[in-house]
Order: sequence, then C-alpha cells, then structure tokens
Amino acid sequence: MKRTLLDYLACPLCTAAIRLRSVDEEDGIEIMSGELTCTSCSQTFAIRRGVPRFADLALVGEGKQATAESFGWSWQEFSHEDEGYGDELLGWITPVRPEFFPGKAVLEGGCGKGRHTHRIARWGARDIVAVDLSDAVDLAFDSTRGIENAHVVQADIYHLPLRAVFDYAFSLGVLHHLPDPRAGFKALAAKVKPGGHISAWIYGAENNGWIVRFVNPVREYVTSRMNWRVLFHLSKFPAGIMYAVTKLIYGPLNRSRWGKELARHLFYNDYLSFVSAFNWREQHSIVFDHLVAPTTFYISRAEFESWWDDVGAREIVIGWHNKNSWRGFGKLKE
Ligand SMILES: C[S@@+](CC[C@H](N)C(=O)[O-])C[C@H]1O[C@@H](n2cnc3c(N)ncnc32)[C@H](O)[C@@H]1O
Ligand SMILES: [Zn+2]
Repeated sequence: MKRTLLDYLACPLCTAAIRLRSVDEEDGIEIMSGELTCTSCSQTFAIRRGVPRFADLALVGEGKQATAESFGWSWQEFSHEDEGYGDELLGWITPVRPEFFPGKAVLEGGCGKGRHTHRIARWGARDIVAVDLSDAVDLAFDSTRGIENAHVVQADIYHLPLRAVFDYAFSLGVLHHLPDPRAGFKALAAKVKPGGHISAWIYGAENNGWIVRFVNPVREYVTSRMNWRVLFHLSKFPAGIMYAVTKLIYGPLNRSRWGKELARHLFYNDYLSFVSAFNWREQHSIVFDHLVAPTTFYISRAEFESWWDDVGAREIVIGWHNKNSWRGFGKLKE
C-alpha cells in the first residue's frame, strides 16, 4: 500500500478519515504490513502482503463469500496476461478512450487479478483505486506493485472504505455476480463526485435465453458446487469445443470477405467471433468462470437503464457488447 492511498480512504463503518497507525514492513513505496485505524470510531484494519484489508471474507455473508472464494481460486489458476486485454477493456468501457484518463481519480469495482488496473495507471490516471473482495487482490497487488498511481484494496463493493472523490468509477463483469446488482451499482456511484462519470458492463438477459435455460441450472446446482480443481479439469471439455469451433469456423469465416456474410447467420456469432482471438488459456478461463460462479444474473436493457436513472445519471450511452451483454456510460449531475 502506498501512503498516497490514505487521501482516498474513509472508514467503512463511520466514514471518518483513516490514518496509518503502525508500519511493520516496507518495500520501496509499498507498506507491506502494518495497521490502519479510523480517526473517529478507532476501528482498526490490517495491511497484509501490501494490501489494506477492509473485508473479512468470513463475515461478509455466505453468498458473497462463496462468490469471492470461487473467483479468488480462479484468478490464482488464470493469473496470465493476454495481449487482447487492452482492446477488451476498451470494448467494455466504450466510448471511453485512453485519452480520457490523464489527471483523473479512478475507482475500479471488482478488479480481479488487476489486468485493467495497471493498464489504466499507465494511461495516466492521477490515481486508480482498485477494489476486490477476494484474495485475487494479492495478484492485483503483484501486477501493480511499485506503480505509484495504482492502489489495491480488499473490500466489499457494498461497503467501500472510500471517500466520494472519484472522477470516474467502472465495474466490469462484477455487478451481475452480486446478490443485489442494482445496490452494487449504487454503492459504486456513491463514490463518484458530482459531474463525474461511470461505466459498467453486465451480462444481458436478451439473446442469452439458451444460457438461462440450459447452462444456468447446471451452473447453479452442479458446477458451482463442485470441487474447483475437478471443475478446472472438467471445464476443459466445453472449453475445448468452444476453442475448436472458434478457431476453425468462427474466426476464419469472420476474417474472410466472403465468409463474413455467412458467419452473420451462425449461432452466437458476435460473441464467438470475438472470443476466437483468444488463446486456449483465456478461453478456458472464460468457460471456467461461467461455470464456477454461484450467483449470476442476466439483466435486461430496461432494468439496466433504470439503474442509471436511480443514480441521476445524464448523457447515458447504453449499447450492446457482442450482442449478449450491456455496457453503459453516463455522467452524474453537476
Ligand atoms: C468475473 S470477475 C471480473 C474481474 C475484473 N473486473 C476483470 O474484468 O478482470 C468478478 C470479480 O468480482 C469480485 N467480486 C465479487 N463480489 C464482490 C463484492 N461483493 N465486492 C467486491 N468484489 C467482488 C470477484 O472477487 C471477482 O474478482
Ligand atoms: Zn470509523
């Protein structure tokens, strides 16, 4: 943890300022272990392995704990970087471009292994504070270690230990895994300054009827309850099928001039064409993630639009992403 993170922190219990109470170990600009304390209610929070810990997984509730633990495990297995991540990020936060970030204070809700965090720090954000409930924060810390403007915090998105000082907050692939996605969105928006911006990307209800009907019951009652290591290996079968059809059919057809027209009629073409660019490891991680998550909602455009109204957003841009998910961008009232 860098000392500059203190400017952004607030007690999740009483919202007062947080101060550093003790430092046990430092490494360059990182405080590796120590203790933070609230200046008002005196609650203390540990800094362990370079990350301030505001959430105790054992105390957040069964549903959230199960989600965080399964993703935490998943990120340890899929800790790789993929060269497609930068474009993928820009696809999810459209119309935001790298030029948007210089000078901005950015909040990332549910950062996983931190693949977007270090990128946005490099794009010139004044600071990016990335939050995740799971132990994936250890990986996010590794990938941002020593980067002055990148910060990682372990916390629950519903109880963010942060001041409402952010110019921009975003959350990608997280809100639909929360027990109450709308409440998660509101919690994130509450940390953005008036006139600041928000981006979110969520699974759509539209065009995903086959997943809701056939994959969801399997995920809910079988795969999300399985031993993760067993599921890791079992998920290679559906991932292998996806890998073969995307590399042999969807990718080549969509890249060829004559095949493009034909590909438009293929099942789930936009998404599978997008996925065809990814290597085996990334495709396996996508399938595993779908099957391991204990909670997943598929959200309609109308429902998603109402979230933005709830937080009083303006200039809202909502659009399809690969025709199976929704991305949104909006500005909060001045
Ligand atoms: C599918 S991953 C997406 C991670 C990242 N946004 C990315 O695109 O790589 C969902 C993440 O949400 C995190 N998460 C789930 N529930 C959370 C909560 N209540 N508060 C904060 N993070 C949460 C999980 O630990 C997981 O890392
Ligand atoms: Zn307090």
